[in-house]
Amino acid sequence: MNVRILKDEKAVARAVAARVIATLAAKPTAVLGLPTGRTPVQFYARLRAEYAAGRVDFAQATTFNLDEFLGLSGDHPASYRAFMETHLFEHVNLPRRRIHFLNGVASDPVAECARYEAAIRRAGGIDLQILGIGSNGHIGFNEPGPGLIGDSHPARLAPGTRRSNADLFDGRVQAVPPNALSMGVGTILRSRAIVLVATGVGKAGVIKATVEGLVTTRVPASLLQLHGDVEVFLDGAAASKLLRH
Ligand code: PGA
Repeated sequence: MNVRILKDEKAVARAVAARVIATLAAKPTAVLGLPTGRTPVQFYARLRAEYAAGRVDFAQATTFNLDEFLGLSGDHPASYRAFMETHLFEHVNLPRRRIHFLNGVASDPVAECARYEAAIRRAGGIDLQILGIGSNGHIGFNEPGPGLIGDSHPARLAPGTRRSNADLFDGRVQAVPPNALSMGVGTILRSRAIVLVATGVGKAGVIKATVEGLVTTRVPASLLQLHGDVEVFLDGAAASKLLRH
């Protein structure tokens, strides 16, 4: 993995936005895989600013988001779709028809995941997948366990994941759906290039395990070691436990 340690969260957001802008400059029809969560908030703010300044064009781009809560429709205010509308989609010229999301209220969640996989394939695969990481090592909603599912699938959230999403539900952990739909680790690893982003000392331990530890389904992000084009963007705090950097 190619680790890049930057001064602070702002510098990380700038660098990740620059990576997206360079991808779209080289290939205006690029397919982007996008994350939600606290980590990418500044990155999306930066992308909006770059768009407003005329430095990036989404007119021919396609996006696939990583995951969505099961049971929430895209217009529910706590849905990841709503997050994306607020932080990016409402502000840029990304054609609505090329925005792709797992539908949390699909009547058949397994069929919905198969539809998503087929849509990714039809789009030609993901060129650049941006990822956050859970403090337990999850990517998307692929939680640590004895095994992982390769393709997009319905997933059960770890208790800590529900707690860290409580802010979306006015702080009420019990209101956080227990299940979600998520790209699988195979879906993620099939992306041509991957950028993993982490900031803050709370991620330092899991970043060490991801970058320097064993490849294990107990730390799903460690599977990224198997991919040939992964960049890890960190601030100093998230990098603080790395030995070799
Ligand atoms: P966070 O979540 O950015 O809110 O820390 C990351 C994740 O769980 O993937």
